[in-house]
Amino acid sequence: MDVQEKIKQIEAQVESAVQDIKSSKSLLEIKMRFLGKTGEISSLLKNLRDAPAEQRPTMGKVLNAFRQWTEEKFSDIEKRIKKIELDKKYSQEKLDVTVPGTILPDGAYHPNTLIREELVSVFAGMGFEIFEGPEIENDYYNFTALNTPADHPARDMQDTFYLSADLLLRTQTSAGQIRVMENKKPPIKILSPGKVYRSDDDATHSPMFSQMEGLVVDKGITLCDLKGMLDVFAKKIFGEDVKTRLRPSYFPFTEPSVEVDVSCFECGGKGCRLCKGTGWIEVLGAGMVNRRVLEGCGIDPDEYTGFAFGMGIERIAMLKYGINNMKLLFEGDTRFLKQFKD
Ligand code: DAH
Repeated sequence: MDVQEKIKQIEAQVESAVQDIKSSKSLLEIKMRFLGKTGEISSLLKNLRDAPAEQRPTMGKVLNAFRQWTEEKFSDIEKRIKKIELDKKYSQEKLDVTVPGTILPDGAYHPNTLIREELVSVFAGMGFEIFEGPEIENDYYNFTALNTPADHPARDMQDTFYLSADLLLRTQTSAGQIRVMENKKPPIKILSPGKVYRSDDDATHSPMFSQMEGLVVDKGITLCDLKGMLDVFAKKIFGEDVKTRLRPSYFPFTEPSVEVDVSCFECGGKGCRLCKGTGWIEVLGAGMVNRRVLEGCGIDPDEYTGFAFGMGIERIAMLKYGINNMKLLFEGDTRFLKQFKD
């Protein structure tokens, strides 16, 4: 077959084949079919060797021109396809900076934490330092040194989790008082928050709860100092109009011992459901440190006196936020906790 005719044929094939090019992949396949080492056009060029010598130069020119035409054709298509593919890639990867971001829900402080921090800041403002004692205590610090020897009836006030004959989960942060007084001589002014444990479980009691203990020991400390400090505490935590009152009570480690009430911040003292009609709400236990406790820690009770107080943090949180079941404070239900977001 005449070369010119062959070229025409292949040209027609190229024209029809390029219609099918949809991607770089099909472009490469079709390009190889014509321009690859064994492709149609390359074979034509190879056959040039067999042509008569006088025809070779003209045939060579024609063939090379045809190869060039084909190469240019494919290169145009390649440019077009690359652009289409790139545009597609860019449109898929497009980042819309105006789309609002995913907002991660932020947490809220637990009501217990809120109260603890509030208490710490009120007392820190009055010069108290923080002391944190161990949750696993021995009998001596939790009871004996607090004037509650074995068989003392006051041990029944707190149902204790014993770990061994001597070790127990502390039932009161009061244990920390002894640790402080053993290691530090007066003046002492400490605040001791922490978890305590008792075998007790109902709507207002939990086997684990938190207390905040306070201890002040110095020369000339009286019950009036305790009362004055409690007045400041009550006003800061429950409101400026709140008053305090002391009622006689009993704790083995204080003498005299008192129960501290605040005037009802809900009804202003008239009597309501919160204060059960009495106008007063009990918030903590306190008293003057028993001289036997001071003595046991090597502090001379004729030279120094002190007061101590202890309150339940959950109880304060329940009162302040109107929480009716203590369990809510331990369940970690976010529907409950969300309400404390400020
Ligand atoms: N430890 C007592 C309790 O858990 C509370 C308490 C009462 C602490 C009187 C004191 C205090 O420091 O003086 O019931």
